Amino acid sequence: MSRSNGRELLPRELLSGSSFSAVELSDDNSRVILLEQRELPSEERYVGFSDADAVARAITDMVVRGAPAIGITAAYGLVLAAKGCTGNFPEEMKRASRVLAASRPTAVNLFWAIERMNRVALDVASLAPTSRVERLAEEARAIHREDVAACRRMGELGAQRVPDGATLLTHCNAGALATGGYGTALGVVRAAHEQGKRVRVLADETRPYWQGSRLTAWELHRDGIPVEVICDNAAASFFARGEIDVAVVGADRIARNGDVANKIGTYGVACLARAHERAMFVAAPWSTVDLDTASGADIPIEERSRGEISEAGGRALVAPDIGVRNPAFDVTPARLVTAIFTERGVVDPVDAAGLEALRPRAGGSARG
Ligand code: MRU
Repeated sequence: MSRSNGRELLPRELLSGSSFSAVELSDDNSRVILLEQRELPSEERYVGFSDADAVARAITDMVVRGAPAIGITAAYGLVLAAKGCTGNFPEEMKRASRVLAASRPTAVNLFWAIERMNRVALDVASLAPTSRVERLAEEARAIHREDVAACRRMGELGAQRVPDGATLLTHCNAGALATGGYGTALGVVRAAHEQGKRVRVLADETRPYWQGSRLTAWELHRDGIPVEVICDNAAASFFARGEIDVAVVGADRIARNGDVANKIGTYGVACLARAHERAMFVAAPWSTVDLDTASGADIPIEERSRGEISEAGGRALVAPDIGVRNPAFDVTPARLVTAIFTERGVVDPVDAAGLEALRPRAGGSARG
């Protein structure tokens, strides 16, 4: 019997603005629908989740991943918590928030989205249950829409710095699959492509989880943007041969001094870009900027399971009695980053003053 691809679960209009979406909320606010990213590129299948605990597990287990996408997913998870609430609303929302916040530690977008939803939960606590759910769903969808708009804006700004004919190196997946839609680093690529520039992408496969080969290549190819996958340790020789003009990546958290936490291996890409006098660009929404964290040394780095490294395709790659280290992220110091593209503007040079200048003033809706 053939398995359903789950598309029937999706809402009438995808907020991603594309024919696929990492995350959506069902029209009746009863389910979070995720594109099962662990099955890409072999299968495009959507899965529905109907409570916040299951949504948190899906984030931990990488059904959905990428900093902005997990923030949006958590916001939708809190809509489910409100919908399923049978007892004390503030207590149940607090519990669900704790569970969602414990799903992954590095991407600050997760905590940013939970805090924003909690402010609304506080406001609506005295309303009837259906009104609470509607108001929270409205806020979560606003977070989603704003993320797509932010990606488009930073893409436009970033594309101005991409020369016609450029080959861009990217690491991990900072695309539509990692965001509400359009992508951050891949938003820059998409915008350059839409502006008529001839661009092509070299995608690091991104060990150990293969976000580059499985996800980045899948979504760029789908949009007709030329892409080739390279193994991570080939990047140095492509730089040396002069085949890479620009490196562009996303971020999980940007500290006050401009240090950037992103997928493990990003720091190596930045070192290579500097050694070969190429630009190292970071694209991220303001929800990734954490002005409360002083520097990269203060960013919590997730350590993931041994199995992601010690086996692949059901085959052992490391003998069972040998240790494995699997930090999921690293920190690129601000001095190695040429510019950061955000929807609020470009930070160049990358330093505390540059980020501070873009901080939203009181009354704005973005993180301050
Ligand atoms: O472990 P992942 O796949 O969630 O890591 C994702 C990344 O490191 C992305 O580059 C980052 O979240 C930016 S996504 C726009």
